Amino acid sequence: MEKKLNKLIEDMLSRLDGISNLNDLNLLKAEYLGKKSVFNDLMQELKEVPKEEKPRFGQMINEAKNRISDFLEEKKTALEKQLVANKLKDESIDVTLPGRKMNQGSKHLISQVIEEVEDIFLGLGYTVKEGPEVESDLYNFEMLNLPKDHPARDMQDSLYISEERLLRTHTSPVQVRSLLENTNQEPLKIICPGKVYRKDDDDQTHSHQFTQIEALVVDGKASLADLKGTLLFIAKKLFGDEREIRLRPSFFPFTEPSVEVDVSCYKCGGAGCSMCGNTGWIEILGAGMVNNNVLSAAGYDPEKFQGFALGMGVERIAILKYGIDDIRAFYTNDLRFNKQFRGK
Ligand code: DAH
Repeated sequence: MEKKLNKLIEDMLSRLDGISNLNDLNLLKAEYLGKKSVFNDLMQELKEVPKEEKPRFGQMINEAKNRISDFLEEKKTALEKQLVANKLKDESIDVTLPGRKMNQGSKHLISQVIEEVEDIFLGLGYTVKEGPEVESDLYNFEMLNLPKDHPARDMQDSLYISEERLLRTHTSPVQVRSLLENTNQEPLKIICPGKVYRKDDDDQTHSHQFTQIEALVVDGKASLADLKGTLLFIAKKLFGDEREIRLRPSFFPFTEPSVEVDVSCYKCGGAGCSMCGNTGWIEILGAGMVNNNVLSAAGYDPEKFQGFALGMGVERIAILKYGIDDIRAFYTNDLRFNKQFRGK
């Protein structure tokens, strides 16, 4: 019996050696200590043993069983330890490895140009105003000296929501809002960047939605000379210190006189090239002296107040500055386009 038990333990130990996971260990445990284990057979054999030998054999069987149980338990602890060690190894972080690069977003080119223009104007003491994109006919047209049925309304194909409401066709209604809000009629110097909408078919040079920046100065003395000085300053800041400007007579209902502003070509310096159509000049924006009718409509006495205004297309400035050949590139969100103009 003793030999048999020793052999049993030896067999068990050699099998235990080959076990490398908890699952197999559990199977082995069931085999040796479960209900149908060898120890059950041994208990059957014990019945046959002479009475006086029974306690000794019984004790031997029990001891063998305990030893096997101890070995199994020991192995279990070792395997569990191993498991934890492996897990720690797998999850350990090598801090010397290079980091994973995060894809970082950046400001859209339109936002960048708006901020650049805002910075220029803020430096001149202007404040930034905003207005709603859904505007009343009154502010978008009527109070800007564009009464209903005025032919100049055709200059801006409009998207109406109702008789009286439309998507603003320009940022000029913010002029009206700012004049009306300024109830003490203090000197006013504002710019307003924002989206505007026109009933246009989108193509290389047209978009039904684009961005403008409006500027308005109203006080007791702002003159055409002040406007010209401001325009020259802005043109130099945007297109380079060597730039000159030229004013051409134009027409806008909200200004009188009105001008179209050209900047000397930054590519050829004014000599004439394909960029400027051989003229040496590139049109950048519209401006003028605030029309007396606009001042009166907002309750300002034209005898006491005067001022100037200008409106520029942000896309146009960006197109000129960065040589972009299709206005739709701003809105299609092609990352290959956007990534070329990551914020500085
Ligand atoms: N509102 C004009 C447009 O969208 C642009 C403009 C021209 C604005 C002259 C002005 C201005 O303030 O003085 O076509």
